[in-house]
Amino acid sequence: MSETLANLLQETRQFPPPAELAAAANLTAEAYDEAAADRLAFWERQARRLHWSKEWDQVLDWSNPPFAKWFVGGQLNVAYNCLDRHVEAGYGDRVAIHWEGEPGDTRTITYAELLALTCQAANALTALGVTAGDRVAIYLPMIPEAVVAMLACARIGATHSVVFGGFSTDALTNRIQDANAKLVITADGGYRRGKATALKATVDEAVSRCPSVERVLVVRRTGQEVSWSERDVWWHDTVETASTEHTAEAFDAEHPLYILYTSGTTAKPKGILHTSGGYLTQVAFTHHAVFDLKPETDVYWCTADIGWVTGHSYIVYGPLANGATQLMYEGTPDTPHRGRFWELVQKYKVTILYTAPTLIRTMMKWGEDIPKGYDLSSLRLLGSVGEPINPEAWIWYRENIGRGRCPIVDTWWQTETGAIMISPLPGVTATKPGSAMRPLPGVSAEVVDDQANPVPNGGGGFLVLTEPWPSMLRTIWGDDQRFIDTYWSRFDGLYFAGDGAKKDDDGDVWLLGRVDDVMLVSGHNISTTEVESALVSHPSVAEAAVVGATDPTTGQAIVAFTIPRGHVDTSGDAGTALIAELREHVSKTLGPIAKPRQIMLVPELPKTRSGKIMRRLLRDVAENRSLGDVTTLQDSSVMELISAGMRAGKSDED
Ligand code: WT7
Repeated sequence: MSETLANLLQETRQFPPPAELAAAANLTAEAYDEAAADRLAFWERQARRLHWSKEWDQVLDWSNPPFAKWFVGGQLNVAYNCLDRHVEAGYGDRVAIHWEGEPGDTRTITYAELLALTCQAANALTALGVTAGDRVAIYLPMIPEAVVAMLACARIGATHSVVFGGFSTDALTNRIQDANAKLVITADGGYRRGKATALKATVDEAVSRCPSVERVLVVRRTGQEVSWSERDVWWHDTVETASTEHTAEAFDAEHPLYILYTSGTTAKPKGILHTSGGYLTQVAFTHHAVFDLKPETDVYWCTADIGWVTGHSYIVYGPLANGATQLMYEGTPDTPHRGRFWELVQKYKVTILYTAPTLIRTMMKWGEDIPKGYDLSSLRLLGSVGEPINPEAWIWYRENIGRGRCPIVDTWWQTETGAIMISPLPGVTATKPGSAMRPLPGVSAEVVDDQANPVPNGGGGFLVLTEPWPSMLRTIWGDDQRFIDTYWSRFDGLYFAGDGAKKDDDGDVWLLGRVDDVMLVSGHNISTTEVESALVSHPSVAEAAVVGATDPTTGQAIVAFTIPRGHVDTSGDAGTALIAELREHVSKTLGPIAKPRQIMLVPELPKTRSGKIMRRLLRDVAENRSLGDVTTLQDSSVMELISAGMRAGKSDED
């Protein structure tokens, strides 16, 4: 396509940083100038927030692109940086983790305690035969042992591969096999939606197909029955009886820290490899800069699961490297009631909340009366990650959760980038609802056309990263060629992220979703994100998913699946009238070219376990001829198709 993405949505609201926050912010506007003046010197200064056992000889070796080496020759221990050095500096009594289980049980773990637990686990792993360079699969619920297991691996130089606890046998098996993991760390089960779910049984089945696995280490969480073999050992028999003394050994800056699988569009998941020094530098820096973390006073809460990169970078490595106090929650937002998250914010006086647009839109659907019932005055900063956040969801978040006081940082990044790349700085940036704004200091991003030329302000195209960054993926585990083909082949010398984006008239960046999702309507490339945002800007809509369906006249036609807000009447004629109104609303907001051919009102949308809409499935539904032009909630055939597809496609891959 020679033309770039159409730029339809115009958003003019803007919110300057609160004066009080700006006055004490961790970063000022100078950071941009400093980084622009000398990018590598800037990153070198950020690396100095860490403790290095041996200083690097060279900041970046980019002599063999796309294979980068950062802080060449440097040595550090990642777990030492997250734990020991805080305890040695006198912060041993600071709470590292306020943990709350779904049933309401709690644990408070200080830095000194987290260090002792991690040392025990490091000793136990060593006794089980794990040595530096070995791979360890971690398949756990959101319990503190998940953090301890990751840090223990880091401490002894073993490479962890965390597999999301909601994945089933096949996904777990593939990941264990691809990494040749020697040990699996799991639990009997965990709590989800008020029930004890089983994990150990899944591991048993997977491990029977994985000859590389020598031992399985099992945490007792629920107390449910599990079958047992001689390969299995209990966490409480091994880890909790081990010595709390363990001396951390320093590893090379490029020592592999973890593999995390992401599936993207192709079937075989990609094992994204992250290494130590550059990764820890950038997650620590961005957590400090973007969340303006004040470790003495803030209570930080990231609601992601530890099985996703957000949990790796912004529950484990970034916050702990910075000595943060954080909340960790095991369960779902609606158990035992829909106010659970706000009850937790109130109880722990959370000051910084980092969550996903899918959650915000779910809360919109449930209605503002729910958060209204809680004291959210402790909050001072809100973050968003995972998908484009529609302007209306952004405003809803600001008003109903931030109560108009808190800046919102919309953070763009990927499993592959390891850390936040594009985001406002909360004390500097005047934010715009729906825009991730600018690349962070030290990050070089651009929006280009298909010839790799930067698009002018006001234009749309492909988001690329033009310079290497410290937390970049180093390769796809075991497949360098696939690493080159997937990320570095579309544009010579540039990392292509797979996302469409536009620059507004000020040059600020707006993410437009995956380019695979862009619709081609009568010769125009239209972003699904913009049409979704237009729908969500209507007061009756909580959430929308838009797909392009084959159309004999226009090539593709826009089909929208829309979830109404809680109070909206969608029965009979009211539903039909609402659909007509929504089509007009999109046409007025974005122009007639973007008017959906068809709008369906639905109670739910099919999503992956990490909250991304399964558009492939919706496209199938949209292209199903048996559907009429107008379909409402009452037409159960839509939901049947969606749920049938969800069952069939209940793939373990994201
Ligand atoms: C993809 C990466 C980053 C951690 C969680 C997801 C989308 C992510 C944003 C944002 C618009 C976003 C992109 C990206 N995405 N954050 N703030 N605005 N889109 O990690 O599973 O690797 O997904 O998520 O499409 O490429 P991931």
